[in-house]
Amino acid sequence: MDQQGIKEMTGKGAVDALVRSGMKLGLGTGSTAIHAVRHIGSLLRAGTLKDIRAVPTSYQTLIACERWGIPLFTLNSQEIGGTLDLTIDGADEVDGRHYCIKGGGGALLLEKIVAYASASYAIVVDESKQVENLGLQFPVPLELIPEARVPVIQTLEALSAVVQLREAVRKAGPVITEHGNFLLDIRFQNPVDPPVLERELNQIPGVVENGFFTRLRPRVFIGRFDGTLDIRE
Ligand code: 5RP
Repeated sequence: MDQQGIKEMTGKGAVDALVRSGMKLGLGTGSTAIHAVRHIGSLLRAGTLKDIRAVPTSYQTLIACERWGIPLFTLNSQEIGGTLDLTIDGADEVDGRHYCIKGGGGALLLEKIVAYASASYAIVVDESKQVENLGLQFPVPLELIPEARVPVIQTLEALSAVVQLREAVRKAGPVITEHGNFLLDIRFQNPVDPPVLERELNQIPGVVENGFFTRLRPRVFIGRFDGTLDIRE
């Protein structure tokens, strides 16, 4: 099975295992999570699933929900009331403790707010995302306000991190997030303690959020290249 097929099988598998009529859902971002979104849309169209209220984590997901007729809300809508039953999202890296790095698609801020407001959390990945130590291969994304760019980079470099401002494609200059901020991609040279860094990176003035997700124990759906789906509780 090719990688696209694996992503589709994984996204659909998580929906079939976890999504039920009447749920308030957080919907993630990226090329794997989008298959979960499409599958929810087609189950709604078929009438197999009913009364879904969805909170999207990015414009990518919002537009997909609009296309598929998935009823859209925000966390602040009365119909949602600030809490969700379940969020399904992708990840850039997952370790054995189910700690993740997210934000490859630049949506980490809303992804984290939505994840941390969910009673249940599921991650959908192909097996290439499994790692022993987070942050050594895939850089940790960090969202910051544009005015804090130089002092934040200096502080991170003093921690021996290699830091890059994320550049846009088909637009000159940096990526601007959905919240009007910049993104840095941080690479560490040695293994780090993700829960400590998740807390400490956010202490740097000007940092809005970072891509370590360590405060939840998500179910992890891992699509394997042999076409099987592995579910880790
Ligand atoms: C977006 C994310 C994505 O979930 C993450 O980048 C994984 O995406 P993909 O499934 O396309 O590899 O965190 O901000």
